[in-house]
Amino acid sequence: MSETPAPPSRGATGARRRYALIGASNRGVASFARPLIGAAGGVDGAHGYGASDDDFSAVGELVAVLDVDRARAEAFVATLVPEGYPPVAVYEPEALEEMLREMRPDAVIVASPDHTHGSYILAALEAGVDVISEKPMVATAAEAATVVAAEAASTATVHVTHNFRYPARHRRIKQMLAEGAIGRPLHVDLAYYVDTRHGASYFLRWNRERAASGGLTIHKSTHHLDLIAWWLGAEPTRVYAVGGRDYYGPRSPHRPAGVGTAAEVRERDPYHRAQLGSGTFPEATGRARTGLFDLPYEVQYPASREMTLYDDEIDIEDHVASLISYAGGATAAYAVQFSAPWEGYRLTITGTHGSIEAFVGRTPEQEQLPGSGELVLRPLFEAPRPIEVPVATGGHDGADPLMRRDLFVGPDEESTAMGLMADARQGALAVATGEAIWRSAQEGRAIEISELLR
Ligand SMILES: NC(=O)c1ccc[n+]([C@@H]2O[C@H](COP(=O)([O-])OP(=O)(O)OC[C@H]3O[C@@H](n4cnc5c(N)ncnc54)[C@H](O)[C@@H]3O)[C@@H](O)[C@H]2O)c1
Repeated sequence: MSETPAPPSRGATGARRRYALIGASNRGVASFARPLIGAAGGVDGAHGYGASDDDFSAVGELVAVLDVDRARAEAFVATLVPEGYPPVAVYEPEALEEMLREMRPDAVIVASPDHTHGSYILAALEAGVDVISEKPMVATAAEAATVVAAEAASTATVHVTHNFRYPARHRRIKQMLAEGAIGRPLHVDLAYYVDTRHGASYFLRWNRERAASGGLTIHKSTHHLDLIAWWLGAEPTRVYAVGGRDYYGPRSPHRPAGVGTAAEVRERDPYHRAQLGSGTFPEATGRARTGLFDLPYEVQYPASREMTLYDDEIDIEDHVASLISYAGGATAAYAVQFSAPWEGYRLTITGTHGSIEAFVGRTPEQEQLPGSGELVLRPLFEAPRPIEVPVATGGHDGADPLMRRDLFVGPDEESTAMGLMADARQGALAVATGEAIWRSAQEGRAIEISELLR
């Protein structure tokens, strides 16, 4: 590393906890680094990176950023860390141990691509440094098992940012289930739709390769799978799934025929054409792609790396349907597709004494669909009751500010009672369920979660 600023001694800045960000990603910068340095806001939450206006600079200090792309990390420090803030050191992955030794973080925030989380988490645990890991905790069940074992042997802890537990609607459902509103929950039916804008965007980023993301049944579905398990308060045991890749990749029915270069493909690509002028998809500019706050991705997306939705390297599913069994006897039917005309979900949870139903939906242009936000309790022998849910502000339906408070300040009474913060075991179960889905779809057999987490 170069120009390491001398670390302020522990306590020099009051009781603030010292954090190192691993991965100066869109998510890492918008949702963790900026709120920590007290420079949040300015980004539309609809970007999906959870930017909000909260400020945790009184309780935490960002002391280092580690990224494979030094130019990007340095651009973050130069342009987004305010003048007068204590120095934020920049490191590259080879200098991880040096960073832990020199900057003495109390915790690392792991927000790099999914396949890189595992080794960072293990190194931090080995050094006795707490971990806040972005979801998915890791990209494979085998790594997940290793992290759970390493945490058990360490003095440090791992928290996983399963923020999909936090929206008011999802907390209300958890509360209704805990109060016995539908008796004993028997079955969760969750059909999740990712729209043509958001869904396609995964196939133009690192997420499109299994080796980097574990596939979308891990990268994205861990949100949904963790939520179902948390609602049920039960661990998944067995998965059967079918699915495939039918929207994107070389055999896509949408691939423009008879064209060669990436620019020609883009010009006739229906996904691309639907987003023209919105800035959603990268256009060829002759320079490296940039992310939020105009930070360059010289290493991850160099100017020479052209991507289209139909490239050969795309090797993950873009739709699946699955059946999941849970300890205690409940079941779930979970389906997701990544090329839908709208984004959101239809949910029914049935229990021995009634059901809970919810619908959330918006267009790719962020317009709410009629009925969106509806939450209804249907007791078996009584009239249905609409359930009011307060409208929240802040990233991801108000989830991120609450989650940050739990992570940076500590859980309040409600969070503690509900078990809102996801731990390593829960992070591992979500990853294993996601892996069981793609493995089951590939192998045509049911997969035991214990088989994967062994
Ligand atoms: N909880 C949520 O709602 C949510 C939302 C978005 C993203 N995420 C998660 O956040 C993480 C980052 O996703 P993103 O889309 O913001 O990423 P990104 O593509 O914006 O950035 C990835 C960053 O990691 C760096 N990088 C690449 N390889 C690295 C390595 N080996 N070591 C260190 N840095 C490396 C890249 O240079 C880049 O700066 C992922 O784990 C993703 O799943 C979570």
